[in-house]
Amino acid sequence: MKLLVTGGCGFIGTNFIRLMLDKHPDWSIVNLDKLTYAGNRLNLADLERGEPRYSFVQGDIGDRALVMDMLTDATVDAIVNFAAESHVDRSIDDPSPFLTTNVLGTQNLLECARQRRVSRFVHISTDEVYGTLGASGKFSETTPLAPNSPYSASKAGADLLARAYFETYAFPVVTTRCSNNYGPYQFPEKLIPLMYLAAKDNRPLPVYGDGLNVRDWIYVDDHCHGVELALLKGREGQVYNFGGDAEETNLAVVKTMLSLLGKPESLITFVGDRPGHDRRYAMDYSLAALELGFAPSLDFATGLRRTIDWYETNSRWLEQVQSGEYRRFMDSWYGARS
Ligand code: NAD
Ligand code: TYD
Repeated sequence: MKLLVTGGCGFIGTNFIRLMLDKHPDWSIVNLDKLTYAGNRLNLADLERGEPRYSFVQGDIGDRALVMDMLTDATVDAIVNFAAESHVDRSIDDPSPFLTTNVLGTQNLLECARQRRVSRFVHISTDEVYGTLGASGKFSETTPLAPNSPYSASKAGADLLARAYFETYAFPVVTTRCSNNYGPYQFPEKLIPLMYLAAKDNRPLPVYGDGLNVRDWIYVDDHCHGVELALLKGREGQVYNFGGDAEETNLAVVKTMLSLLGKPESLITFVGDRPGHDRRYAMDYSLAALELGFAPSLDFATGLRRTIDWYETNSRWLEQVQSGEYRRFMDSWYGARS
């Protein structure tokens, strides 16, 4: 299979490309990535040097000429669209790039793929499109979309375009919605790597609001496996939820991390809440279990230890992301919220 993966220099895309090339000797992958602040070409530098089945193209999923060109000559059997602006806090500061990439970029990719008759398109989405839950219940694929942040609204917009491409053109798109991922290569603006770095530096760990918002955590490899299953077995036009069966409050996650790192809980600092902060996410993934055979394999305690080990042994990666955009982000973040 010849795959076009978009956003492959980001967190989940990097893990997906590595896993798929490892697992499928007959697959080749072209990675189209714009290299925003979140995209790191060095994540896959070893593959660029030594893996002939992998190639990289720097570019924007919204660039019609480029994408049409990449899809000529039936060189691509399937597309997996990870490319996105992905951080809620950034979307609150400035929604525009989220609309440009997540909505218009995805529509461009769908349109080019339709015109070039690509026979499979997996669109990667998120549980956040469903909005927020109270103390009980779970999101299923039939839960109405009720996004609360500019990020989740832009992802919901993309999901609806994917749906429309199936309904209107019978375009073979499958959409996946997953809960919060964690694991290697996650950019340290997201909760777990951000708290890891703050704890290592003995800086305050900024917990929003009362810290009792709940997220369902899934180890990134389990999400990637779900995407693989959707690619190989998903029904055209269908949406599939993936979850990790690991509901935790943010405070519990942060306390566990401090304990694993041997740091005091006094580092925890409650800061102002995120506007529109969703209270709780939980996923009913029974459809994916039934139709695809999906199940998360790693429990949260093991996954968190594995993730922290990865950050401990990959200090070079952390130094690199810290030296540039991340450092500027942290400085402005702490400046704005202290
Ligand atoms: P990320 O921010 O780490 O990576 C995004 C990648 O997309 C980066 O490499 C970036 O350079 C690239 N990109 C951004 N705009 C682009 C454009 N216009 N053209 C080409 N490339 C572009 O994000 P992630 O956490 O790896 O998330 C990947 C996908 O999974 C996103 O669609 C996100 O909405 C979805 N998702 C993420 C999570 C999570 O917990 N991280 C959960 C569910 C779904
Ligand atoms: P995040 O990693 O940004 O993912 P998402 O907003 O997509 O769920 O945040 C996860 C949770 O952690 C969310 O409830 C917000 C909270 N949070 C903090 O309390 N402090 C922080 O510094 C960050 C980044 C997030």
